Amino acid sequence: MTLEDKIDKSRLPQHLAVIMDGNGRWAKKKGLFRSMGHEKGTKAVREIVETCAELPIPYLTLYAFSTENWNRPKLEVDTLMKLLVSSLKKEISTLMDNNIRLNAIGSLDSLPKKVHNELIDVMELTKSNTRMTLTLALSYGSREEITKTIKEISLKVKNNLISPSDIDESMINNHLYTHDLPDVDLLIRTSGEQRISNFLLWQIAYAELYFTETLWPDFRKEHLFDAILNYQNRERRFGKTSEQLNP
Ligand code: IPE
Ligand code: IPE
Ligand code: MG
Repeated sequence: MTLEDKIDKSRLPQHLAVIMDGNGRWAKKKGLFRSMGHEKGTKAVREIVETCAELPIPYLTLYAFSTENWNRPKLEVDTLMKLLVSSLKKEISTLMDNNIRLNAIGSLDSLPKKVHNELIDVMELTKSNTRMTLTLALSYGSREEITKTIKEISLKVKNNLISPSDIDESMINNHLYTHDLPDVDLLIRTSGEQRISNFLLWQIAYAELYFTETLWPDFRKEHLFDAILNYQNRERRFGKTSEQLNP
């Protein structure tokens, strides 16, 4: 029985989010430039995207560049932006062949024009695809997203469009970049770090967290199956007791 056979296809996470970490350390271990780690990381992205579409997991969100990553050396930021444009161009056929819609979250206006334009083009091209929504978090920071949301809602109150008592969780949800995505069920972080690094703070309120030592460029579908099997062995209680869930 393969790992994949052990997965209960009726209980797959509907929304999987991944903090793809460890590209730099992968390269360093091999005596290569950090950029080689990022390059190799794109291969892992392709395998995981295709595997999720096949399973199927309808929503996959990948943390590709954080608001804090702008503070890296300019050369690394430039390399990452170039890699983004070339990967987007290269992966159009993967997205179309697998019926995947591309989506993006983050302060996209702060991306270089080339990246922004390519992103808009690919999102437009894939907008009618229905098997999976692949969301790239780019120049994404959860605190920036929540701050933006508070500003937008405050403005509505100021302009008397709503009153403070109208503000509820669903209104806040509707102002987030992720307004059209369900809550995250499973969050995977590679490379052994056990932190969230400003990713989807609101959306992971009840996500199951899974940390693995595997560095992102080494992450393959077997690692993903391990994570899903681990997820399926957990009891998601959402505040209730185990007895309530299993009467
Ligand atoms: C993740 O790998 C990719 C990005 C954050 C863009 P890192 O570049 O953070 O790799 P490490 O953590 O230095 O190994
Ligand atoms: C988080 O990784 C961001 C992405 C994976 C894009 P980092 O490597 O930037 O996280 P920290 O700064 O080590 O927490
Ligand atoms: Mg890192």
